[in-house]
Amino acid sequence: MSQMIDLVTQYGAHNYDPLPVVLVKGQGACVFDEKGKPYIDMMSAYSAVSHGHCHPALIRVLTEQANRLSVVSRAYHADTLGLFLKTACELFNYEKALPMNTGAEAVETAIKMARKWAYTVKKVAENKAEIISCSGNFHGRTVSIISFSTEPAYRAHFGPFTPGFVTIPYGDASALASAINENTAAFLVEPIQGEAGIIVPPEGYLRECERLCRKHNVLLMCDEIQTGLGRTGKLIASEHEAVRPDCLILGKALGGGLIPVSMVLADASVMSVFKPGDHGSTFGGYGLAAAVGKAALDVLVEENLVARAEKLGQFFMNGLKQLKSKAIKEIRGKGLMLGIEVDPRYACARDICLALLERGVLSKETHEVTIRLAPPLVISEAQLTEVLSHLKAVFSQ
Ligand SMILES: Cc1ncc(COP(=O)(O)O)c(C=O)c1O
Repeated sequence: MSQMIDLVTQYGAHNYDPLPVVLVKGQGACVFDEKGKPYIDMMSAYSAVSHGHCHPALIRVLTEQANRLSVVSRAYHADTLGLFLKTACELFNYEKALPMNTGAEAVETAIKMARKWAYTVKKVAENKAEIISCSGNFHGRTVSIISFSTEPAYRAHFGPFTPGFVTIPYGDASALASAINENTAAFLVEPIQGEAGIIVPPEGYLRECERLCRKHNVLLMCDEIQTGLGRTGKLIASEHEAVRPDCLILGKALGGGLIPVSMVLADASVMSVFKPGDHGSTFGGYGLAAAVGKAALDVLVEENLVARAEKLGQFFMNGLKQLKSKAIKEIRGKGLMLGIEVDPRYACARDICLALLERGVLSKETHEVTIRLAPPLVISEAQLTEVLSHLKAVFSQ
């Protein structure tokens, strides 16, 4: 076992259970361990590395900006923020954007925005606002966010929890219709649930949810931290159903695989509830984050990564469907956000991930039965073909 793993085991909190590999270098869709062994990265850091590892254009922007100016805080203006906001608003078609750092912070920001909108615009009685979320959701790890998680492991012994959240089954628009009442501020939803095991809701679900939200003056808030920025073969996954969320939440790949950058987008009628002093973050949209975030969006467009995800996603999905094994229960997903659910009678997802690791393919199990396959969008067809041959070998064992 590597000495680096021993150090983490000795000094680190044991809140993760990583696969036994120490990575030291990355390039594109490939990473290398301490001994120089290459791996094809089919995880891309839970979709944070959609642009590939150490993208040269992003590294250039990062280093130039780091050498010039990084953090001044929002007490002043940094010269990179405005262009980042403009690029994001124009690309996603919103009037306003509010940058934060991690995904969870962006979700917290959206929750605060929805509550304040409910009290000051919709005129919900003070402290009565409700936000509806879905079973199986994953929106982050803060106390308020885990307050509406339905995963026992994420909640146990972390109470007391934040009130004001209602949970309904995922993929069931009639449950949303029943749950909405005069106090409902927003419906918070992932267009595809990633952490829950790449769960794709029924066709038409999000469209119907949008219709219900509009009808009842409820904000539709789509958490596209994982599904956004091309991952599912559209710029944002909501586009598959021609849905325009009232509030779009982005993170992960927005930092170009280099630094944490997240963002909430909305129109002025909603975003303008925020006034100086009522919300913020020392690092939210800091000079370096703004420069890298803008470059990450530029590269996404310049390199056609959205179309690439769609094309390669179809190619890879077709290949996955050729895998014949009684251990495979279902293959699902969109674009390059795919999952193989195994039948626990015949296979254990972690064992398959370990066998793939041995063969030079990085993947990761979620919920014991699903293997996540979400490579950087810059991956090549040849690399995906290689992954398919390894999957075939592992599943035939
Ligand atoms: C859909 C979704 N929302 C929120 C988050 C939380 O993001 P972060 O880990 O950056 O706080 C994640 C992370 O996996 C996610 O997948």
